Amino acid sequence: MPCDGAGKEVVPEAIKVLRAAGADFEFEQFDVNADAYLRTGVAIPDDVWKQLAAADAILFGAVGDPRVQDPNYLAGVLLRLRFELDLYVNLRPAKLYDDRLSPLRREDRRRTDLLIMRENTEGLYVGMGGRFKKGTEEEIATQEDVNTHLGVTRIIEHAFKTAKREVVMVDKSNAMVFAGGLWQECWKAVAAANPKVKTRHLLVDAAAMQLVKDPSQFDVIVTGNLFGDILSDLTAELVGGMGIAPSANINPSSGRGLFEPVHGTAPDIAGKGMVNPVGAILSAAMMVKHLGVPDMADAIEGAVESAIRARECTRDIGGDLSTSQAGDAIVKRLKD
Ligand code: NAI
Ligand code: MG
Repeated sequence: MPCDGAGKEVVPEAIKVLRAAGADFEFEQFDVNADAYLRTGVAIPDDVWKQLAAADAILFGAVGDPRVQDPNYLAGVLLRLRFELDLYVNLRPAKLYDDRLSPLRREDRRRTDLLIMRENTEGLYVGMGGRFKKGTEEEIATQEDVNTHLGVTRIIEHAFKTAKREVVMVDKSNAMVFAGGLWQECWKAVAAANPKVKTRHLLVDAAAMQLVKDPSQFDVIVTGNLFGDILSDLTAELVGGMGIAPSANINPSSGRGLFEPVHGTAPDIAGKGMVNPVGAILSAAMMVKHLGVPDMADAIEGAVESAIRARECTRDIGGDLSTSQAGDAIVKRLKD
């Protein structure tokens, strides 16, 4: 699903790299995009939905278009897939492949190899709430932060299963006492059941500060939907920016997954052959790892790292290649 804007440019590069890495998957392309939405008013047609819901994995570009102001479009594509396929784990790794991509002055603290694990099906994104007395000075707008015992427990459990060194649980339990209270209780219960995994708690503001001060301290950060969304833009910037940040949306029980670069459709630069395909390519690597081919994932990641270090990459990370030339530079390393 390339969808819109930059997504249409980066997904073909990811497929090119998958082919070069030897993936013998069948790909089926679905033209879910703003043109179709503007024409039909339907975000995902029913017959397409059935096929998407049955797919082993979905490789996704980005959704959004300056011509579509209606929030039902984004909700009807990406949020629907996350919610209805119950893709409750959002993995957003941040790894520094080349020292010069770090914005931090202190060389001894640049090393970054962390994973934001964001709860992906609850929180402030469920769309509960409303606007009362709309358009008047007395207007009230509410947006409800929905947290369930099951939802919080399962994401924290997955963090403890995934962590190599430590799980840092991030919330805002000092000010948001109801949701934060539930997160605290679930975290303590899961931690007690996993005594071998080191763990600590940070409030989200302190976590933002620590991520800039010394990202090398972190392994897995588990947090809610909104905080994970925000912190993962920050961590992307610690390692080279939106162009290279990958993500996976998975359900570890059903095995379903949707894999997408963190970035959006980049309307400011889309269509000019300048967007960085690395975020999509690393997302494809996460996809093959999820599908049970970790060696292929490692080979793709190695090729990406080597191309970046050689500056065979797009402008945003210090090269001068076009989108497709940057994809070719990675393909070349896979074939060498
Ligand atoms: P954005 O991620 O599209 O762009 C933010 C900045 O990062 C821009 O300066 C852009 O040029 C740059 N950038 C993004 N991708 C890049 C790439 N591959 N290579 C180099 N630079 C890149 O976010 P923005 O501008 O807030 O949103 C644009 C549209 O995308 C909106 O319609 C928004 O709703 C949608 N969006 C969709 C997402 C998704 O499908 N998962 C995620 C975020 C935004
Ligand atoms: Mg975001």
